[in-house]
Amino acid sequence: MKGEAVVLCPAKINLHLEVGPIRPDGYHDLLSIFHMVDLYDTLWIRSLKSSDFCSVSGDFDFPQAENLIYKAIRRFQNAAGVKNGFDVRADKRIPAGAGLGGGSSDAAGTLRALNSMCGHILPEDILRDIGAGLGSDVPFFMTAPAAIVSGRGEHVEPLPPAEGLWCLLADPGIVVGTAEAYKRLDVSGQLQPLGGRDSIVAAYTDKGPCFRGFSNTFEDTVFKWYPLLRQIKGSLEQIGALRAGLSGSGSSVYGLFAEKKDALRAADLIKLPGVAFREVKMLARLPDAILQ
Ligand code: C5P
Repeated sequence: MKGEAVVLCPAKINLHLEVGPIRPDGYHDLLSIFHMVDLYDTLWIRSLKSSDFCSVSGDFDFPQAENLIYKAIRRFQNAAGVKNGFDVRADKRIPAGAGLGGGSSDAAGTLRALNSMCGHILPEDILRDIGAGLGSDVPFFMTAPAAIVSGRGEHVEPLPPAEGLWCLLADPGIVVGTAEAYKRLDVSGQLQPLGGRDSIVAAYTDKGPCFRGFSNTFEDTVFKWYPLLRQIKGSLEQIGALRAGLSGSGSSVYGLFAEKKDALRAADLIKLPGVAFREVKMLARLPDAILQ
């Protein structure tokens, strides 16, 4: 057992996100292209002698028992029969309720780091099943920097990363509740059966006129709820983003640019009160936990 690990947990954006009608289990089938970006939460993990003691500290505004990092530790201990406890310190940089997957990425990073610290005691498929039980986006964060994701989120097929593109993330400081956003989609009556996977993969792989045909089912509903988000998307398109859209159920809106200077120029020109911009690169590889 290694005593300590540091793991970077990246944020994601959804280049494309289709949501199908509600399933009998209350979830929705998805067809989505997820891509990681280089904005990270950092976790410092220390193993402890007693398995009774687990602690997660950081800038969280909810109880420890609801924290996905804490839940990931407890499920890992049970599945692996590990007797050690763990102490985790989290430096949160990914805004919460922003559609960037921060909580899910932290859970995935925790599972991967604990498994590395324990000499890969659990096979990858078991680790991924634990991840899927913690949240729909967690399997993606355990797999690859870019992927087409389907089912509830558990089917993850890696895609080549869209290297070289710059992403301008607009953070309007709004917290969108994912479960509430799904409920609003249900009552909108707009949910249609999912389209074909192959045309989406082809549009991603060609890149051509930058992801032609990509969309996000949440946009109509969430833009009615928070009109500022529609305004941000419109501004990004007007200024020449190759693609602009809502990430997940929001509240982040992103614009893609070929050059860093174009992203910086857009951030400079778009003046919307309360909206902060951050330029990030599309990630080319999943960061490994560093053992100490
Ligand atoms: O799986 P996770 O806990 O992240 O999902 C949060 C909520 O989002 C779920 O309770 C469900 O209401 C909704 N959801 C969904 N279909 C998905 C993923 C999430 O309805 N594929």
